[in-house]
Amino acid sequence: MERKNIVISPEKIKEQYEYMDKVKALLADRMQETHYAYVETFGCQQNEADSERIMGMLVRMGYVQTYDPALADIIIVNTCAVREHAELRALSITGQFKHLKEKKKHLIIGVGGCMVSQEHRKEDIKNKYPYINFLFGTSMNWRFPEILYNCMIKQKRQYYLDCGDIGNIAEGLPVKRESSFKAWVSIMYGCNNFCTYCVVPYVRGRERSRDKNEVLAEIKELSDSGCREITLLGQNVNSYGKDFEESYDFADLLDDICKIEGNFIVRFMTSHPKDASHKLIDTMAKNPKIAKAFHLPLQSGSDRILSEMNRHYDRETYLGLVNYMREKMPDIAITTDIIVGFPGESEEDFEGTLDMLEKVGYDNIYSFIYSKRKGTKAAVMASQIPEKVKKERFARMLEKQNAISNGKNNIYLGTVQKVLVEGRSKTNPDKLTGRNEKNRLVHFTGDDSLIGNFANIKITEAETFSLSGELIK
Ligand code: 5AD
Ligand code: SF4
Repeated sequence: MERKNIVISPEKIKEQYEYMDKVKALLADRMQETHYAYVETFGCQQNEADSERIMGMLVRMGYVQTYDPALADIIIVNTCAVREHAELRALSITGQFKHLKEKKKHLIIGVGGCMVSQEHRKEDIKNKYPYINFLFGTSMNWRFPEILYNCMIKQKRQYYLDCGDIGNIAEGLPVKRESSFKAWVSIMYGCNNFCTYCVVPYVRGRERSRDKNEVLAEIKELSDSGCREITLLGQNVNSYGKDFEESYDFADLLDDICKIEGNFIVRFMTSHPKDASHKLIDTMAKNPKIAKAFHLPLQSGSDRILSEMNRHYDRETYLGLVNYMREKMPDIAITTDIIVGFPGESEEDFEGTLDMLEKVGYDNIYSFIYSKRKGTKAAVMASQIPEKVKKERFARMLEKQNAISNGKNNIYLGTVQKVLVEGRSKTNPDKLTGRNEKNRLVHFTGDDSLIGNFANIKITEAETFSLSGELIK
């Protein structure tokens, strides 16, 4: 695949800056001092990162960010399609914004993200939500200024959904990050794996890696501005660089990132077990800047189901990887994603998953009830599992994992943890809260000047979901 066709040319990006200026001029002509923009985000971190880019463009156009949709002059809903539940929530919120539009005629509402890239959802919105001003698929995010400008001058509904399946890479557009000390950095987009349950390859196009120099420059800039935690994003970060002519992979990228000066840690997600290499694990082990936390989606603990899912690994190879990780980094935190109730999952298959929870001893799991996704292979597989059985298995799995997680926090008692301080605890504002490199929540007493920096905390109490401790000067 020719990369030069995938990377949007600087001329085309410049055109989008011109559209941003045009929108700014239109806003300036209005008899209103401040124009507010609100973005509602569903789904994964990639969507959060995309929303920060959309807000970046909005701010560049003269809007001011608000967290109150009732104040907004423009609302963007950035949707997710991974499970039906996320789609229904996005549709419901979009429905609730109708009354805002009735009160404020000039309010612009746009719906973007993975959900609208599906033909049937596009039709749904077209027919049932006539007050939506425009729809834009993820491959059109970079044209957001043009879409908004056209919406403003043409006064008719705009559809920018033609994503093809190749996708693109756009560099040099503005961003407005939610945090000054934690940042997402997308290193690649799309997915080639076509796991049979998953809609992502259909809505986010094929795998494509950002140029390493662009990624490194972005991280250097973040580090220079005092950013303390950088999370590299991709549907399958282990595939990074496979589309390059030169031989340069994800481990090489991590190595180069760690050479950038600065007081920051690096995380990454998500890794596909079939592509997680020993080289990657060795790179993690030798670089103190890389957080010793690995998210390795298992999806199922049954070899038969894994094959039906098109995952290209089995229990044994997965456990081999886990063993290698623990050999190199004995205290590494391992987390996973699990789907229960995939079509044809028998009680025995499910017990295989429970068994893997025990064998691996995860720090945490993200578990999901299988959700049928239109257009995927699994959606038309025979023997879909009844809702009741799925729910019952889901509950059994959580119970099992809770028993495994309980007590995991005790190992931290008496240790000193380096914690990135995030802010005041929501449940107890007297306390500050942060996370250690294993992503464990830590509460302690201290003043606000610590927020956005690392602090050393001696752990004195371990609860089920969090740790408490004392600040060490
Ligand atoms: N149903 C339930 N869970 C799903 N996931 C992806 N597709 C589906 C689906 N159709 C889960 C997988 C993936 C995570 C992001 O979402 O576990 O790793
Ligand atoms: Fe979906 Fe599988 Fe790609 Fe992950 S690797 S985005 S689960 S198809």
